[in-house]
Amino acid sequence: MAHQKFDTDYNMNQEDLFKKLIAHSKEYGYIFQSSEIYDGLSAVYDYGQLGAELKKNIKEYWWNSMVLLHENIVGIDAAIFMHPKVWKASGHVDAFNDPLIDNKDSKKRYRADVLIEEAREKIYAKINKEVDKAAKRFGDTFDKDQFVATNQRVLDNQAKIDELTKRFQAALENNDLADLKQIIIDYEVVCPISGTKNWTDVRQFNLMFETKLGSVSEDANSIYLRPETAQGIFVNFLNVQKSGRMKLPFGIAQIGKAFRNEIVARQFIFRMREFEQMEMQFFVRPGDEMLWFEYWKEKRMAWHKALGLGDGNYRFHDHDKLAHYANAAADIEFQFPFGFKELEGIHSRTDFDLNQHQEFSGKKMQYFDTELNKNYVPYVVETSLGLDRTFLTILAHAYTEEKIEKEDGSFDERVVLKIPAALAPVKLAVLPLVKKDGLPEKAREIIDNLKFDFNCQYDEKDSIGRRYRRQDAIGTPFCVTIDHESLETNTVTIRNRDTMEQERVSVQQLTEILKDKVSMRKLLEKI
Ligand code: GAP
Repeated sequence: MAHQKFDTDYNMNQEDLFKKLIAHSKEYGYIFQSSEIYDGLSAVYDYGQLGAELKKNIKEYWWNSMVLLHENIVGIDAAIFMHPKVWKASGHVDAFNDPLIDNKDSKKRYRADVLIEEAREKIYAKINKEVDKAAKRFGDTFDKDQFVATNQRVLDNQAKIDELTKRFQAALENNDLADLKQIIIDYEVVCPISGTKNWTDVRQFNLMFETKLGSVSEDANSIYLRPETAQGIFVNFLNVQKSGRMKLPFGIAQIGKAFRNEIVARQFIFRMREFEQMEMQFFVRPGDEMLWFEYWKEKRMAWHKALGLGDGNYRFHDHDKLAHYANAAADIEFQFPFGFKELEGIHSRTDFDLNQHQEFSGKKMQYFDTELNKNYVPYVVETSLGLDRTFLTILAHAYTEEKIEKEDGSFDERVVLKIPAALAPVKLAVLPLVKKDGLPEKAREIIDNLKFDFNCQYDEKDSIGRRYRRQDAIGTPFCVTIDHESLETNTVTIRNRDTMEQERVSVQQLTEILKDKVSMRKLLEKI
C-alpha cells in the first residue's frame, strides 16, 4: 500500500487540538476527570489503565537517570503528612501565597499576576500579528529584525510591554497589592466572564490544604498536605547522610504527591490541586552552588531533549523574581498547546532550608567536611519537575492526525500517539490474522514468552486494519501479525507504528528487536 502522510497540525488551531487531545485521553483510558459520575472535582484527575503505565514509565526514566546513573544520588519516599512546624520553618505558612482578585459582577476569582501576564501576552500577540502581516506583504525580502526595530506600531507596543514588566516586577518585589490592582485597572483588564472591570482589592491567599490529625476533632492538631516534596528531603538530610555515609556533594531524590489549592486551576493536567513532583536536592559545599546550578541546568535539559519531542520546544527562562530562599533560579519551559510554560524549576536554594530547620527544630543540620576539617550547613541546588506536566508534554507532542493515501487514490485517516517507544504503555500488540487454524494459539505462545520483558496486548477482534488503528490510537510502537506462514516458518510480520512499514522476521528475533527499539537504556545513554 502506498502511503502518503499529511500532518494536519498546521490546519488545526492549537485550541482545537488541545480539546481533541483531552477527549482522546479519556476515550482511550489515559486520563479521566476525578469523580466524574458526580460531575467531577475541579482540577483533580485520575489516570486510567494506560495513563498509569505511561506515568510509571516516566517515573522510571527520571528515577533511573538520577539514582541508577549517579553513585552519589540516593532515593527516598517520605510521608505526605509532616510536622506542622516544617511548614512554618520552610516559610510556606507565611509566604506560600498567590495574589487573588475577584470580579464583583461574575463573582469569579482570578490570580492577579496571571491576569497581568495575560494582558502582557495580548500585547505580544499584537506585535506578532504585525510581523506576520508584514512577512506576507514582503515575502522573501522580509527582514524581521529590521522590521521590529523600525515599525512604529511594534515599537509602541514593545514600549508598553517594557513599562508593564517593570511595574509588575516592582509590585511583586515589594508585595505591593494595591499596585497590582492598579496595573489591572490601568491596562483595562476585563473579566472574561462578565466583560466588566469591576474588581475587588487584591488579597493574599495561602495555597496549602489544611486538615486535622487525631481522632477527636477538638483535640486534633492542624496539619497540612505537603505543597512540595522537597521538605521531606530536607528534614531527612542527616538521616540519609549518616545512614548512607554520604559525602558531599551528594543528592537525595524523591517522587511523590504534592497538593496546592490553586486559584486558577485550568489547562487540564497542567495545573492541578493534587499532582506529583519528581525532585532532587543536591547538597554541596557553600561557594560551589553556582557551578552545580549550571551543571544541573544542562543535565536536566539533556534529559528532556533525549525524549525526542523537538529541541526547539524547550527553552530556559530565568526568574524575574527570586523566591525568598533562592540565589539563582531558572525554569525549563516547554511549548505546550497553550504556549511556552514552566515544566521544571532548577533552584539554587542556598542553606536557607537546612538553616531554618536547624533553628525551628533545635537540631544541628551540619555536615563535617573531612577535607576542610570543619562543620557547616551545606548549600542546596534542587531540580523540581512536575510528573503530570511531563506527561502532558509527551501526550501533546504525540497526538497526530494523519491522512494516508491508499493504492486506489482514496484517503484513510488515523490518529496516532507517537509516544517515545521506551515510555509507551503497551510495547507490542500480538494479532492473529484470523481467529482459527491455530493462529490464536501461536499468538498466545509468543506473548507468553515476551510478557516477562515487555507489556504486550493480545487482540483478535475486527479486521487487521481496525486493530492497527486501535493500537496507533494508544501509541503502541509495534504490532506483530501471525498468519498461516507463521505456523510453517516460525516467522511473523512486525509493523512500525510511525512508518507503518512491515517486515517479516523470525519469532526468535523478536526479543532482540524489541530490546533494541523500546529499551529505557537507549534513552538513558543519550543523557
Ligand atoms: N520544591 C520547589 C517547587 O516545588 P515549584 O516551581 O513550585 O517548585 C516545581 O514546582 C514543579 O512542580 C513545577 O515546575 C511544575 O512542573 C510542578 N507543579 C507545580 N505546581 C503544579 C500544579 N499545580 N499542577 C501540576 N504541576 C505543578
